[in-house]
Amino acid sequence: MKSHLLTAFLLLFCLVQTGNGGVLFSSLPQTLVVTASIKQGQVLIAGEDSIILTWGLNQSFVGRTDESYKEVKVKLCYAPISQVDRKWRKTANDLSKDKTCQFIMVSKPFQKLDQTFKWSIEKEAPTATYFVRAYAYDSAGKEVAYGQNSDAKKSSNLFEVQGISGRHLSLDVASVCFSAFALVSLIGFFLVENSKKKRSTDN
Ligand SMILES: *[C@@H]1O[C@H](CO)[C@@H](O)[C@H](O)[C@H]1NC(C)=O
Repeated sequence: MKSHLLTAFLLLFCLVQTGNGGVLFSSLPQTLVVTASIKQGQVLIAGEDSIILTWGLNQSFVGRTDESYKEVKVKLCYAPISQVDRKWRKTANDLSKDKTCQFIMVSKPFQKLDQTFKWSIEKEAPTATYFVRAYAYDSAGKEVAYGQNSDAKKSSNLFEVQGISGRHLSLDVASVCFSAFALVSLIGFFLVENSKKKRSTDN
């Protein structure tokens, strides 16, 4: 009886452990080299501008660590300045809880040669300051390495995205109002025309 209970506890413990624990960011080697075609502090417009991303293996690691690399995902990540007072963007060492990099810019099978990709800034990207980070994944989909276009403190090579929400909201409201106005005018026009016709047939 006691041993059953113990087994059950152990099993539960293991489940909880594997269920909650992700890969620790601090355990990942920085073997990828990532660049983005931006200037420090550049402001880019969501839905209009684009960035050229380049990523590849740091040549000093070729053949040493990359055997397990199967896939690379390049992600858009919040810079510290855009995480202040925003728990939903918080950085956690446990990658299953990390909210730093919420947008996948591109996902490709890992290749030894440098890859490039032109990323058009999605309309959904919120206004914020960002950097770019790439993760390499093994066949089980676990992070095994990373690289980023910024330094360890995430202070260099940052860029800003100006999102649609702030910029176009007033425009959207205006266009909705205009459409409503147009519809009402049209209905009004028909009503007037109808009553005119009615009057002329009545007479
Ligand atoms: C490649 O890795 C070496 C060794 O860790 C490092 O000194 C070098 O700065 C890295 N190169 C790039 C371009 O990140």
